[in-house]
Amino acid sequence: MNLPKFKKRSPEQAFYSTTSFASHAANDSFSVQTVQKVQTKSRDKHKYHWAIMLLHWGTLITLLAAVGTVLAWDNAEDRALRVLLIDSHRQIGMLVLVSVAIRLAVKMFTAKPTHHLNMSKIFKVCAGLCHTALYFMMVALPLLGIGLTLAHNTPVTVMGLVKIPNWIGANADLADTLTDYHVLFSWALLGIVSLHMTSALIHHFVMKDKTLTSMIPGKVK
Ligand code: HEM
Ligand code: HEM
Repeated sequence: MNLPKFKKRSPEQAFYSTTSFASHAANDSFSVQTVQKVQTKSRDKHKYHWAIMLLHWGTLITLLAAVGTVLAWDNAEDRALRVLLIDSHRQIGMLVLVSVAIRLAVKMFTAKPTHHLNMSKIFKVCAGLCHTALYFMMVALPLLGIGLTLAHNTPVTVMGLVKIPNWIGANADLADTLTDYHVLFSWALLGIVSLHMTSALIHHFVMKDKTLTSMIPGKVK
């Protein structure tokens, strides 16, 4: 039996074949402009998805809050206040871990912005390495924080909802080592973020490309 063969079609071909003006539309510039407008309205292609922007700037605020609470804890005298500050630090740090998991999931289902397409290979590699290092730190830092807290035999919860089982047990030496790494990684994160922020500003003010605006919501030129 001769069954009809179906060819794989591009999204544009699929769009045109579903409209009543199918056979003329491919050469019809009015229709092409209409399609482009619809696509631009649904999402500006040079920008990150709004959820990525929200999580990106949210993470910056959360990190500042994590560092702020722990610095205040370092300088506080009152015992009750110290407990409140270090508890807040832990929960804010957990928020970084939870939001990075959501961000990686959102990234899998959303399209990349198009400004990278015009970039030279070396810039793409440097940006990729920097972003990977940032993701690594956003995961490693909270994990070290959880590890050192458990090694102090202090219970840890995820946003006060789920208690993390203490598979480490009280271990003062391990707690000290993990604390050293926790602090070291915090400095490393500060260094990478400074580099990241500086290159975003160089892209905007020196190279005058769309890298910075890709992460800023609204009609920023
Ligand atoms: C990404 C988020 C985090 C950042 C940026 C961060 C940063 C820091 C920094 C800079 C310190 C050192 C403060 C000092 O000079 O003494 C510190 C200490 C500490 N952090 Fe974090 N932290 C994060 C997440 C966490 C998490 C998730 C936990 C636990 C659940 C945690 C628990 C602690 C504890 C208990 C200390 C005190 C360690 C000690 O000196 O005994 N941190 N954190
Ligand atoms: C004032 C501070 C910051 C500025 C101006 C800034 C700016 C930007 C810009 C313009 C992009 C797009 C770059 C591109 O597409 O090549 C970007 C992406 C990114 N930024 Fe930042 N950023 C800042 C802080 C941070 C912080 C604190 C983190 C995390 C610790 C971070 C993590 C990332 C990551 C992982 C990406 C890649 C896109 C993604 O996967 O979400 N940024 N940032």
